[in-house]
Amino acid sequence: MKIFFKFVSGLLIVLVSSQQPIVNQLEYPPGDTFKITCDVSRFANLKPAREIFSISLLRQLSTQTSFQNIAAYEPRAKQTMTTNIPSQWQVLYAGGEGFDNRNTIRLVVTVVDFQCADAGLYQCEIFIPSPLRHAYTIPVNITAKIEITQKDIYMTPQNEIIGEDIHSSVNTVGVEITMICSFTGPANLQAVWKRKKEGNEENYPYANNFINSKQVFSVISGCNTYDYASELKFTLEEKDNGTLYICVVMEDNNERSRKMFTIGVNPVTDSTTGKPGTDSAGSNVGAIVVGVLVVLVITVVLIYFFVIQKKKQIESSEASTSMKVEATEVW
Ligand SMILES: *[C@@H]1O[C@H](CO)[C@@H](O)[C@H](O)[C@H]1NC(C)=O
Ligand SMILES: *[C@@H]1O[C@H](CO)[C@@H](O)[C@H](O)[C@H]1NC(C)=O
Repeated sequence: MKIFFKFVSGLLIVLVSSQQPIVNQLEYPPGDTFKITCDVSRFANLKPAREIFSISLLRQLSTQTSFQNIAAYEPRAKQTMTTNIPSQWQVLYAGGEGFDNRNTIRLVVTVVDFQCADAGLYQCEIFIPSPLRHAYTIPVNITAKIEITQKDIYMTPQNEIIGEDIHSSVNTVGVEITMICSFTGPANLQAVWKRKKEGNEENYPYANNFINSKQVFSVISGCNTYDYASELKFTLEEKDNGTLYICVVMEDNNERSRKMFTIGVNPVTDSTTGKPGTDSAGSNVGAIVVGVLVVLVITVVLIYFFVIQKKKQIESSEASTSMKVEATEVW
């Protein structure tokens, strides 16, 4: 009973998906490992043929104008061949022995350490008799999808946190704070700052307060990968209390990632009213010191001025005397 059920469901799957894709997905992160499978189940509307002469995997890179056969298996001649297959890739040739080999022949290419340069169109091909012809699967465009990794927002100065939220900081009014958002990914990313208070999320309104920079790229698995940083700087006001700041990573106007940070503002309580007293006493002392310094500077300048004037007077009287002497000698 169990076997019968399995057989029925197996049959249904075969009927429903007459053509299975040669890959499980179309986008893979650089460095990934995945399989490309060529067998008879990948071909649509295949005319009856019991024997398959050969099975191949073809590829067309973005730099190429036509497909190239990169792996082929000819079971009857017991021949296998690969061209331009990176050395770390693995190729499996299986089944296909004998005349009635349609359902056993298989070519599986395991892509190891997928590189951006490997992205392109891939398709399988079989060669079948009576009449002799080639059949192809629909090409799939396999692309390298560089992943986006966003770091937590980092803030300076970060003092005490709010409750247990490590992505928060409580500071005092008037302090200049800096929040740094950084992330890594493909070339077309952008940081957008947002803020949220009492449930309303809005774009951060003061464009002059943030700087987005795009760093030099590094090449990872043959793909240009960029480091980004965005800095938001402003002076803390009381109304910032409890505001959630959000750094959103956008790719072509689509949100791809976000990190958040909550700002707290120290309350001005009665226990701190003693402080302004000491502060003003401190500033009085400062004023006295500054006053004394100013008086000193003025005195020094006056003395200097007086001495210079005196010296100049003496020099000019000496000069006129010597000129008179010279004049007398010429005569
Ligand atoms: C394959 O996909 C890439 C990335 O989306 C695209 O740039 C390229 O034009 C596509 N190639 C074909 C032949 O559709
Ligand atoms: C900021 O909010 C916290 C919590 O709601 C509150 O305890 C504190 O007094 C507020 N600070 C100011 C300056 O209003």
